[in-house]
Amino acid sequence: MTKAQAPFDPRLYVALDLPSIADAKAMVERLGDSVVSYKIGLQLLPIGGVEFGKGLIAQGKNVFFDFKLHDIGATVEKATRSIAPLGASLLTVHGTPDVMAAAVKGRGKSKLKIMAVTVLTSLDDAALVEMGYFTNAKELVIHRVRQAVKAGVDGVISSPLEAAEIRALVPKDFLIVTPGVRMPGGDAGDQKRIATPALALSSGASHIVVGRPITQSNDPRRAVADILKNIRTNS
Ligand code: C5P
Repeated sequence: MTKAQAPFDPRLYVALDLPSIADAKAMVERLGDSVVSYKIGLQLLPIGGVEFGKGLIAQGKNVFFDFKLHDIGATVEKATRSIAPLGASLLTVHGTPDVMAAAVKGRGKSKLKIMAVTVLTSLDDAALVEMGYFTNAKELVIHRVRQAVKAGVDGVISSPLEAAEIRALVPKDFLIVTPGVRMPGGDAGDQKRIATPALALSSGASHIVVGRPITQSNDPRRAVADILKNIRTNS
């Protein structure tokens, strides 16, 4: 079977932003073999998200722990050291130099890839000024991408609309993971800077994250099939 005919695409991470582990398990079951990559974030973390993630890994799924670590370097290093043996593929940390370097140290020789959040997509220029940053979001993203490469992390999280610019600045195998992905005409929800799955990938994203368009759909499996079709017919 060629890659184009595979019933799934490992580049698609489905965000399991759901209120309980039971809901998350039911969603994974409904999606069946159409999805092999899942993102577990802060909503599930305090209610058994790590154990649940380990279960998915044991089933052969790729797991992205979106925990956005941000603390003093020593603590980030130790937290990453605890997470590394769990078998997840990706872990997010905030993109400040000390935090990124500590996470790289903590993951050691494990296969865990460290992903830096450059600037949260919920922050605009005015919010950054309010926080005391005297730069704009775009410049800060570029600055932090350069620091991420220097720190030795494996990739960054970015808006799909920043992916092309970032791709030009980073090594070839650097990962760029983009949330903010919507189908043409789809409901944007609270996402402001969006692109279609195919556009995100052709702009340089290595992986895309899609949550509500799948998990809130009446037919999640159909929503995944539509996304896979969008990727195939436009690439
Ligand atoms: O439901 P939706 O497709 O908007 O979900 C996107 C996922 O990506 C959510 O889990 C959200 O927390 C996450 N995310 C994001 N923007 C970032 C980083 C993570 O939307 N900058």
